Amino acid sequence: METPVASNSSLGQLADADVENAAAPTRYGSMPMAAVLTGLLMATTTALKNPWRMRGAYPNRPGMPAVQAVAASCGVAPPLMTPKWVWATAWRSSKRVIPLCHRWDPVAPADTCVNLLVVWLKALSGNRRDGLADGGISYAFLPSVTRWIVSPVLAWLYPRLHHQNIAMRSAFLERAVAAELSTSEPTALVTLGAGFDGRSLRFATKHRPCVELDLPQVIEQKRGLVARATRRLPQLVEPAASITYLGANLSDVTEARAALKTAMTHIGRADTVVVICEALLIYLPTHSATELLRSAVEEAQAAGARHVSVCFADALPGVKGVARADAEAFLSSVGLVLDAATWTPKPGLARHMGVARAGSS
Ligand SMILES: C[S@@+](CC[C@H](N)C(=O)[O-])C[C@H]1O[C@@H](n2cnc3c(N)ncnc32)[C@H](O)[C@@H]1O
Repeated sequence: METPVASNSSLGQLADADVENAAAPTRYGSMPMAAVLTGLLMATTTALKNPWRMRGAYPNRPGMPAVQAVAASCGVAPPLMTPKWVWATAWRSSKRVIPLCHRWDPVAPADTCVNLLVVWLKALSGNRRDGLADGGISYAFLPSVTRWIVSPVLAWLYPRLHHQNIAMRSAFLERAVAAELSTSEPTALVTLGAGFDGRSLRFATKHRPCVELDLPQVIEQKRGLVARATRRLPQLVEPAASITYLGANLSDVTEARAALKTAMTHIGRADTVVVICEALLIYLPTHSATELLRSAVEEAQAAGARHVSVCFADALPGVKGVARADAEAFLSSVGLVLDAATWTPKPGLARHMGVARAGSS
């Protein structure tokens, strides 16, 4: 049986949905650890549909390549082929541990749509030899005392599960963004639903402004994390000065368009505007997600950009499976042309990866 593909849902919601009936142990203190782990395991396996089905193998899903092939095309090691219950248990355990790791964190980032868990997973991946190097930025976002659990010394201990799934999409985007930015100067980068991702800090320069958009409370927390990272890695001070953070509810079509208009004023006159969408659209209603992409293209063009590229690792609104023709049809409806050579479906909720350019580009 296939894992149901959830649209407009979240990684967290899916993982939770997989185990939603699990009876979570409530009092760890008085129970021996083995009993807690056995309880968690039993709860997970009984609540999951097909708990023993291998995650990453989708023989009944037309067009979905093997996860090993996707990883190879992105240049990273593939996630482990293990039963679904292993992934679900790892996910649930991480969701419990991460808030504890921020208990005394003055920045107090919340886990909005799992963005906090994602930055931990990116830090873990960045600290592993088989992961995706990110210049130590994700790790620099994390609290001093607790981040040692994903430090380079301990990172190798974690099996390649969720962090490797995220490493695939990050690796894809990293290459795609670099290629698009080499098109024609001056360039600029706009990241929609940036969360606690550190990509802008790697790409921003005095001559390449970057704008990040996310919910206002997330933007506030991000500022705190960036301030911490620049204290630890002074080389980030300069790129950080070229990044503008804008808070907006991107589900609201009018607010999203206004935020994008503002974003373009911060960019100035860029010939190439690269828009990044990484695991955001899965949280937006179909109509909002569609209009968001349309607005991004139109506002960039209205500001004078001759080349507009959208690099995505997300779920394209209304595209249920992974057929390229469906992705092309959706993208063309918002004024974008898919570069067929870049189309890379991958397992997981953010299952559509590719680069699309505005028609005139
Ligand atoms: C899974 S996180 C991904 C973050 C980042 N793109 C990454 O891959 O590290 C999803 C992000 O979408 C943002 N988001 C969800 N709904 C949103 C909305 N209505 N408006 C703005 N941002 C939203 C969340 O705040 C969160 O930061």
